Amino acid sequence: MHNYILGIETTCDETAASVVLDGRIILSNTIASQVEIHKKYGGVVPEVASRYHFERLPSVVNTALETAKISMDKITAIAVATNPGLAPALAVGHAYASGLSLSLGVPLIPVNHLYAHVWANFLSLTDAELNNIPEKFICLLISGGHTQLIECNYSNFRLEMQIVGETVDDAAGEAIDKVARLLGLEYPGGPNLEKLAKSGQNVIELPYPMRNSGDYNFSFSGIKSHIARIVNHENQADEQFRANLANSFQESIFGILVEKTISLAITKGIEDIYIAGGVASNSRIREIMDEKAKFHGLTYHSPIKELCTDNAAMIAGFGINLLR
Ligand code: KG4
Ligand code: ZN
Repeated sequence: MHNYILGIETTCDETAASVVLDGRIILSNTIASQVEIHKKYGGVVPEVASRYHFERLPSVVNTALETAKISMDKITAIAVATNPGLAPALAVGHAYASGLSLSLGVPLIPVNHLYAHVWANFLSLTDAELNNIPEKFICLLISGGHTQLIECNYSNFRLEMQIVGETVDDAAGEAIDKVARLLGLEYPGGPNLEKLAKSGQNVIELPYPMRNSGDYNFSFSGIKSHIARIVNHENQADEQFRANLANSFQESIFGILVEKTISLAITKGIEDIYIAGGVASNSRIREIMDEKAKFHGLTYHSPIKELCTDNAAMIAGFGINLLR
């Protein structure tokens, strides 16, 4: 019997629904972004986010079903992201998914959003590839709320994650969004900073925070304050200067993220490295990780960029593991 899982994602500012067949074939991946709404606040306001989830979720789910060309009565389970996330936003998704599961008489699968981010790497695999997921791998999870170096064990639809290192202050995405704001870029900062960095060069010396900390933790608030001081002293209107700063900032934080990931893989004797989360959609960190992994004889994998940022396909896709 085939499993048509409806995934629902409302952890932050994306209202998303997706239908995934048998945990890996994405039939639809609908996302209603609230970026335009939160832009004027410079970040996500939880109560505003939950109001929009409440208004939009029913039509987002309908669009996901229509795109997948499947009727609601064919859905065999509902997977919903239940943590971590903004409490009022999570409550909307959970209430909607619970109601749907009761009315359809199908299982409700609560999914951890972070596990789903990691699982985005394994969506759209063939049967043969699915059987070849490494039993041990390292994943660098870099999103707006989290920065974690995770040692993962996988076997027979069971993913276990052990956090080996994490940020002691800001998450990577959070620091990127704050620095983008200092450079006068609009929310969400990541994609705008990446664009600006492309016309700049790595010529401004910045710290490599916690490089010699002797552990796998990260810190990004110091470099953000350092940049705030530079911006206050220099001519902000100079486009080339801003581009150089964006480029140098990316090199510094991506450099340290990649360095510690590779070091963990080598220390643990683990060959496969994955990345996940919104920041992993950045071309530059993908490039650095690829280059360094090859240099050390390691294998680097990444999800397609669209599956790095928040989406419901990863929720539905990971749901199958829990169902099984
Ligand atoms: O995983 P995600 O979509 O949501 C959370 O679970 O937090 O990650 C959002 C974060 C934001 O901080 C955003 O600025 C960052 O990912 N991001 C990027 C890029 N696209 C999104 N950071 C750097 N470069 C990008 N291209
Ligand atoms: Zn996320």
